[in-house]
Amino acid sequence: MRSSNRFAVAASALLVYTIAVVLWGALVRASLSGDGCGDHWPLCNGVAFPVEPSTKTLVELTHRVTSGLCWIWTAVMWFAAIRLFPSGHATRSAAGWSLFFMTTEALVGAGLVLFRMVADNPSTARAAWMAAHLINTFLLLAALTWMLVSARHRAGVRFPSGTWPRRAFGGAAVVVLFVGVSGAVAALGDTLFPASSLVDGFREDFSTTSHLFLRLRLWHPVIAVLGSGYLIWLAAALLRRDPGASVRNLGLTLGSLVVLQIVLGLLNVALLAPVWMQLLHLLIADATWIVLVLLALSSPPPGSGATLVAS
Ligand code: HEM
Repeated sequence: MRSSNRFAVAASALLVYTIAVVLWGALVRASLSGDGCGDHWPLCNGVAFPVEPSTKTLVELTHRVTSGLCWIWTAVMWFAAIRLFPSGHATRSAAGWSLFFMTTEALVGAGLVLFRMVADNPSTARAAWMAAHLINTFLLLAALTWMLVSARHRAGVRFPSGTWPRRAFGGAAVVVLFVGVSGAVAALGDTLFPASSLVDGFREDFSTTSHLFLRLRLWHPVIAVLGSGYLIWLAAALLRRDPGASVRNLGLTLGSLVVLQIVLGLLNVALLAPVWMQLLHLLIADATWIVLVLLALSSPPPGSGATLVAS
């Protein structure tokens, strides 16, 4: 196997591993385990290896160890990209951005612990931290996806620079980030103030005396349905342009994931957001975002009649 192919395989594995670490991070939040190591970072409760750790210490510690490995793996990929790809090659830039967002992800994670924006802290500032965390995670997933796609093409791949793709995909990125941030606030509301029944949940959403997170929770489905409309329009617009097989498949996948996510979102509300459903909903949000990035990387400018081909 050529070394650039081996690099692409390692980049794909890193993306899958990172998604698993992200899901574990959601489990830390959903199980109120963010203070499992106290307000210590990088040490856990002041020591490197806690003796007789509680369940929440184990949940938090596992997240720290697995995300630390994620950073090391990304740094190794960056060194490998510098060695394997010539100066100016897109894969080098993608690897650099991956390492940048992996580092900022670790810093946001450390900030959450050091400023105690974890466990049952209901402060408004926590919502801003969660929003920053979600946006950084999505940018990190985009950079990792770019790295693996670019490594598969001898000449590398960059995001399209034409006016139409910039507007269409830039708009879609803003939409998904906005939907995601509103979802992160909804998730915080569900974690801190779990509803005892659907009727109670709705009553809390509409009550003027409820906590801000509960009053904001209601907006996520509204924003998500409007945003989904834009994503489905984008997928349909790409399909109408008579694209090659890869863009057609990705466009259909994007549309299907969006519809699936709405169904899962409705189920999430109906089932009062159990942890397994929160993780599934987040997994499909990550998948939707990655497919959008793949589409942006494989879409030719309108009217060019070409699709991206491996060289
Ligand atoms: C394209 C559509 C959607 C996207 C991309 C999306 C994305 C997200 C994200 C990223 C979260 C935060 C997950 C976490 O941090 O653990 C979330 C939470 C949530 N979403 Fe959505 N969502 C979508 C549609 C919907 C719809 C239509 C509904 C309801 C009708 C819904 C209901 C919820 C609920 C109840 C939560 C909080 C519980 C949880 O974390 O799962 N979502 N969403």
